[in-house]
Parts: sequence; structure tokens; C-alpha cells
Amino acid sequence: MRRIVILTGAGISAESGVATFRDADGLWARYDWRALATPEAFAADPDAVHEFYNARRLQLPQVAPNAAHLALARLQRDYPGEVAIVTQNVDDLHERAGAAEVVHMHGELAKARCAACGAVVGWTGALSRADSCAACGAAGRMRPHIVWFGEIPHHMERIAALLAECDLFAAIGTSGAVWPAAGFVEAAREAGAETVELNLADSEISARFDETRRGPAGETVPRWVDELLAGEPVASA
Ligand code: OAD
Repeated sequence: MRRIVILTGAGISAESGVATFRDADGLWARYDWRALATPEAFAADPDAVHEFYNARRLQLPQVAPNAAHLALARLQRDYPGEVAIVTQNVDDLHERAGAAEVVHMHGELAKARCAACGAVVGWTGALSRADSCAACGAAGRMRPHIVWFGEIPHHMERIAALLAECDLFAAIGTSGAVWPAAGFVEAAREAGAETVELNLADSEISARFDETRRGPAGETVPRWVDELLAGEPVASA
């Protein structure tokens, strides 16, 4: 049975209207990540960090999955093998497209975490220092359930196990600028997997892939999924 591991990044949600990070109009071109996406920033100015993530959390109900999210959910449902979706994205568009299971390595906007006891709870509205933990009662310790720079991504053991056993690895809409995700293609190659990158433009690691497909994810991903479901060879281009 064939095992596919798919890594997605901000580019897959771009056509849904969710900003990417490193494109010309990306979040890190407009905001300083050092002041918003580090544990030190949260300690120094929690209100600013909450405001940044609240705006993004409150955007979620206003955006919808696009053709690429829907195609991956279809692949997970219909492919006669295992399909794991690992995402760096903190939005919930894979789930809302119907994906059965999504491994969120950088956390989730729709959840909050208590810095005192570690409890993780669903959170759809704004989060602030006024909020208390429903599990332990600690006041003012709730934080976005987001992996910040300098923190260890979630589910790394699970992801390593998936990569060690995969036959096909695909990276979709990610710049390859952030580790450890940028190294997944090497881990997959070591496992003997075929590798394919689907991206609008060259990424920092395009040369590492057996095959690269250029174009907007809303067009390239459904086509790629159609080929996989039709049983055509993956490295056909
Ligand atoms: P980036 O913003 O770094 O890269 C987005 C990639 O998507 C680029 O390579 C674009 O060329 C590509 N892209 C843009 N629009 C696209 C489209 N319509 N179709 C296909 N590709 C498109 O985003 P990530 O690689 O996801 O971490 O960034 C990785 C991490 O850096 C994020 O998870 C975030 C950030 O700091 C945290 O917040 C922890």
C-alpha cells in the first residue's frame, strides 16, 4: 500500500485570502516577527501579541477552503493508500474542506493554551489577559496555541515516523525557509520516497525535489490529485 505524506504551507491558503509570510505582501513584510511571534515578545507585550493573533483568528469565519484544500481532502478519502496531511498553517481550512486528519506542527489559531497547566481548549473569539484557564483557574495565563520562533514544533515524533515510511512526499505552498519543515524532503528521500514540490514560484529548496510543478495551488493541486487517483505515474512531468 502506497503512503503519501503532504506538507502544506501558507501558499495553499493564499487563494482563500489568508496572507502568506514571506511573499512581497506577506505578514513578515508588514510586521516584525520578533515583536509578535516569540515567547520573549509575549512576555514583553502580551497585548500586542494577542491583538495580532486575534485579528487572524477572527478572520477565519470570513475565509473558505479553496480548490486545493478540497482536492487534498478528496485524496485522503479516495486514495487506496495512506495519505497524511502535515501542515505548517494555523488556519482550519484543511479541516473545513473535509480532511479526515491534519497534523498541525505550528499550532492552531482556533485553540488557546494555558501557560500554567498546559491545557489546550477551543477558542473562536478574541483572547486577552483577562481570560482565565477553565481547567486550572489560572488568571491571565492563556496564550495563542501557536508555535513561536524558538519553540519546538508539535507532533515531531509522529511526523518523523510518517516520513520514515512514506513512498511519496509532496510539499505544497511552502517557501522552505523554516526548519524543521524545510528538512522533511531530505528525510523522505532517505526513506526512498519520490518527492514533488507544488508552488507558485521556486522555493529555497526546489532543487531537492525530484519534480517541481509551478502554478497556483488552486489549479496545480486538483490536477495532481486527479492524476494520483487515476493511478498515473507521479513523476510524469
Ligand atoms: P511562506 O510565506 O514562507 O511561503 C509561502 C510560499 O507559498 C512561497 O514559496 C510562495 O511562492 C508560495 N505561494 C504563494 N501563493 C501561492 C499559491 N497561490 N499557490 C501556491 N503557492 C503559493 O509560508 P510558509 O512556508 O508556510 O510559522 O512559512 C513557514 C512558517 O513561517 C509559517 O508556518 C510561520 C512562518 O513564520 C509560524 O508562524 C510558527
